[in-house]
Amino acid sequence: MITPNGTLDTIIRPYDDDAIAEAARRILAGECVAVPTETVYGLAADATNAEAVARVYEAKGRPSFNPLIVHVNDFWEAEEIAEFDRFSQMLAEEFWPGPLTMVLPQNPDSPVASIVTAGLDTVAIRMPAFPPIRDLIAATECPIAAPSANVSGRISPTRAEHVMATLQGKIGLIIDAGGTVHGLESTIVAIEHDHLRLLRPGPIDRTQLEAVTGLEVRDAGEGGIEAPGQLKSHYAPAKPVRLDALEAEDNEFHIGFGDVPGDASLSPDGNLVRAAALLFDALHHAEQDEDSDAIAIAPIPDEGLGAAINDRLRRAAAER
Ligand code: TXA
Ligand code: MG
Repeated sequence: MITPNGTLDTIIRPYDDDAIAEAARRILAGECVAVPTETVYGLAADATNAEAVARVYEAKGRPSFNPLIVHVNDFWEAEEIAEFDRFSQMLAEEFWPGPLTMVLPQNPDSPVASIVTAGLDTVAIRMPAFPPIRDLIAATECPIAAPSANVSGRISPTRAEHVMATLQGKIGLIIDAGGTVHGLESTIVAIEHDHLRLLRPGPIDRTQLEAVTGLEVRDAGEGGIEAPGQLKSHYAPAKPVRLDALEAEDNEFHIGFGDVPGDASLSPDGNLVRAAALLFDALHHAEQDEDSDAIAIAPIPDEGLGAAINDRLRRAAAER
């Protein structure tokens, strides 16, 4: 329900079958819902629905697009999304379901929306163990994208009240199953052929990762690779990018917005959720367009999700 001042009416429901059914209905309608996992409460959305995922960024007020973790219930669902090698299979067998996230090459046929991975060709995936999130995945039959259910920059929530404290009015439903098991976020590991890279320490420690795979575990940052929260290796289009373009040159593919139609528009009616949802697909499309060797982008207002869109575009324009 939308309240008179335009915010959402946020309800907390204790975890039971009816609450999960309501959460599933909302997720399938493109909403985001807070649900506990064994690590922290997550802000869940259908990972195949780009606009639903854009609403996650909107609710969190994230000033930039940071790729999200995709949650699945079964190994065959994971294989539809990511490509597993021998080592990632070993880790999955040992630690799934549980608090381990793996960064893997994305399957070319993956149904996951490009906004989830922020346009990267890798995907972060995990199989959670906690019943509420598992029930939600089963009820929706979708992979679920879920960052921690807190406003950007605030501590991660381990109880429904923590979610309420920062997301009240921004989401419609919080499923309450009391305190989480681990109380801190999942371990994130990237599998890089002959070694592992620990992108975020968590409940599964490096000795366990080493013991199972026999591979050396290196820290994030060694060798200049990404660290979670501050990815340096962003997806950057292979063509030069020009911002705030009301008109395009002959050699440019023009991405429009609002009154600026362009060759393809992020949203003719100026809807920022829609624009965020289409952003990475539009950049990939413009990059692959054979009739142009540069990209021009219409001005995007710097309010709400527009700030995250502009942050991404400035990086695309700067990274050469
Ligand atoms: O325990 C958890 O992992 C919780 C629960 C809800 O599952 N989720 C969580 O998500 O902590 P979030 O969005 O707060 O953190 C996800 C981290 C980010 O720091 C992001 O940079 C990293 O995962 N990440 C996601 N995809 C990545 C990728 N393709 N490459 C490198 N890092 C990635
Ligand atoms: Mg977080």
